[in-house]
Amino acid sequence: MSAASAVAPRPDPPVLVRLKGLSRRFGPVEAVRPLDLEIRAGDVFAILGPSGCGKTTLLRMIGGFIAPTTGAVEIDGVDVTRLGPERRPANMVFQGFGLFPHMNVRQNVAYGLRIAKVDRAEIDERVGEIIRLVRLEELADRGINQLSGGQQQRVALARALIMRPKVLLLDEPLGALDLKLRQAMQQELRRIHHEIGGTFVFVTHDQSEALGLANRIAVMESGRIVQEGGPEEIYSEPRTRFVSTFIGEANLFAGRRSGGTVRLDAGASFSGEGADAPVLVVVRPEAMRIGEQIPADGVALEGRVEDIVFLGAYVRCEVTLPGGDFVTAHLSGPAARAQVGIGDSVRLGWSTAEHRIIEDV
Ligand SMILES: Nc1ncnc2c1ncn2[C@@H]1O[C@H](COP(=O)(O)OP(=O)(O)O)[C@@H](O)[C@H]1O
Ligand SMILES: [Mg+2]
Repeated sequence: MSAASAVAPRPDPPVLVRLKGLSRRFGPVEAVRPLDLEIRAGDVFAILGPSGCGKTTLLRMIGGFIAPTTGAVEIDGVDVTRLGPERRPANMVFQGFGLFPHMNVRQNVAYGLRIAKVDRAEIDERVGEIIRLVRLEELADRGINQLSGGQQQRVALARALIMRPKVLLLDEPLGALDLKLRQAMQQELRRIHHEIGGTFVFVTHDQSEALGLANRIAVMESGRIVQEGGPEEIYSEPRTRFVSTFIGEANLFAGRRSGGTVRLDAGASFSGEGADAPVLVVVRPEAMRIGEQIPADGVALEGRVEDIVFLGAYVRCEVTLPGGDFVTAHLSGPAARAQVGIGDSVRLGWSTAEHRIIEDV
């Protein structure tokens, strides 16, 4: 690679999935309200939100399994809104896998190619390839009922991947698995995406899954996308109260900004630019400091330590403020831990560089 190309900014990959004004109503329920969204080629894109917010409906509209009430779906520059799932360059892994119980692993994986009348030799070759990719070689001749949840998940993934979709749609792909297996499968999904590339769009209600897997996240609430961005951005710059508490843990302090000063209901004040308005100040537990570790120009409050839990990498400290509000601080390092005991009165605070002010109160 030449020096010039090494420093040239990398152009954004092309948009592969474009949603325009897409919505879906079920009788009186607005499952998905009109929304626009762009997913780029190569993305691992998470649609994240609580149960019932419209994730599955949105994903199924992209796949062609549900017709939209309004709007359009474009894949690779082609309007596919009126095409059925079999005519879209997308393939879907359903919640609960949807495998054929009377077929073995190999037959399940080969199914789509058989229906597409691909010739025998090519089917055998591609099935072999994909079974290796998802590490099911030893289980290829087993029946579906003889597999664990994690193994069934791999079969479902293999069955979709073998069709070489431009877009792989995954509905709660790890939802049926226990925690340990979920973490292992997250790693597997990252490896598979790394090996074969392509574009994955997955739906989850689990924020750690979205943060751990995706390079882009759209957060949904009540049929709307309320924020979209990279994982760091969503975590460190939440735009609404909902996003700040749904992704990661957050301490929220209500207050009012007036004449360039923010006054918290809890007592402290600090200077902050912006229009006069009620505001919420979001502080992550890991940004909380105790005693001398609070920067001189930071925000400080008085409180009483209610509980201390040792969690290995850090100590979780619960503090009550005089008004009754709880604040959670994650303290790392022996110096911070030595400063607190249950029942102690403490000063706790943070640097204004580490908080986030939300105006959408
Ligand atoms: N086929 C349907 N008929 C009626 N209501 C539906 C149907 N599918 C989904 N809904 C409703 O639409 C909303 C969104 O559902 P869904 O997309 O499944 O949410 P999520 O996947 O985020 O849990 C819910 O209120 C749900 O009850
Ligand atoms: Mg769902």
